[in-house]
Amino acid sequence: MRVLLTGGAGYIGAHVAVALLARGHDVVILDNFSNSKRAVLERIERIAGRAMPSYAVDLVDLSATADVFEREAIDGVVHLAGLKAVGESVEQPFRYYRNNLIGTLHLLEAMQRFGVSVLVFSSSATVYGDVSAPPFTETMPTAPTNPYGRTKRMIEQMLEDIAESRADVSFIALRYFNPVGAHESGLIGEDPAGAPNNLMPYVAQVAVGRRERLYIFGDDYPTPDGTGVRDYIHVMDLAEGHVRALEFAAERRGYDVFNLGTGRGASVLEVVRTFEAVSGREIPYVFAPRRPGDVAVSYADPSKAERLLGWRATRDLAAMCRDAWRFQVRHPYGIDVGTAAKGERS
Ligand code: NAD
Ligand code: UFG
Repeated sequence: MRVLLTGGAGYIGAHVAVALLARGHDVVILDNFSNSKRAVLERIERIAGRAMPSYAVDLVDLSATADVFEREAIDGVVHLAGLKAVGESVEQPFRYYRNNLIGTLHLLEAMQRFGVSVLVFSSSATVYGDVSAPPFTETMPTAPTNPYGRTKRMIEQMLEDIAESRADVSFIALRYFNPVGAHESGLIGEDPAGAPNNLMPYVAQVAVGRRERLYIFGDDYPTPDGTGVRDYIHVMDLAEGHVRALEFAAERRGYDVFNLGTGRGASVLEVVRTFEAVSGREIPYVFAPRRPGDVAVSYADPSKAERLLGWRATRDLAAMCRDAWRFQVRHPYGIDVGTAAKGERS
């Protein structure tokens, strides 16, 4: 298939691009580079040993989006473009609704105009909120607790409604749990701007000496060691899940939703200890108050994806930490930033 990847220069998108190219699909990248670097494109090509077209386009610009479909004969879309920081979405809800909802509506409009009917969408486990107990299954009620999560749930509902009204489309929403790690080449990986919001990149930056210590948010959760438990999934397992979902979507019609997780939870302290073991570095940490909005435990029931997509995660927490560490060591201050450009150490 010739696949349009929106947000394809981002953390997950770059890994999905590599997985699609490895499987023999063609990839076209659309990204506005609001949270990614153009240098990533050349790295994807280097890993894949193949070139791919890319477009610096914002999905909120409908005519520029439609132009990409005009130029490229697209068979299917993997839609990853979006803003994703929970805290920022509480501060700037308008920006999140505008970017994520209008961007998606424009993409769907362009797809309809050019007769493209297959779409895989990046949703999130955050849609489950805190009303059900894990493991989360796709049929459980959803209750997102912040604007970011609500954009994900609203887009799922849009896709479901459109698929209900039209016999020709095939849409799949993938609810990611906690993607971490990097491609094993160490050429692409998670490269956040500023201080990382998420655990694994923060731990990696402490290990490499870019930050002094980790703040562990909460030591009194009802978990075995008191720290939060999450279903960390290797980004390459996640990427391979997209390939399966896209191929599945191309063979059928309608709307469906799948969890992508391992089904196993790990605590913050377990992540820290595993990272220390694979990196050989000490990770100094202090306990800090709970982060508002965090749940104690989140992990997937991934059995639906295994049953229908024939996909399951195969890489363990040690592999996730090892690959995250390889990327961090090669790019202590991020892709395209020399170690001289320090300035930040907190
Ligand atoms: P990312 O920020 O690295 O990638 C998103 C990409 O989309 C970026 O390259 C950004 O420049 C681009 N983008 C944003 N708005 C755009 C727009 N209007 N037009 C064109 N490009 C735009 O984030 P990621 O971690 O790779 O996440 C990818 C997707 O997966 C997002 O939709 C995110 O919400 C979802 N997701 C991520 C996680 C996670 O923990 N990383 C968890 C669940 C779901
Ligand atoms: N944590 C720390 N210190 C940090 C960062 C995180 O202790 O500096 C803890 C958190 O409290 C939590 C765990 O590490 O217990 C994981 O936190 P992340 O921020 O890495 O991940 P979240 O589960 O909070 O959020 C992720 C994505 C969201 C998505 C959500 C879905 O970042 O976009 O999963 O469950 F909505």
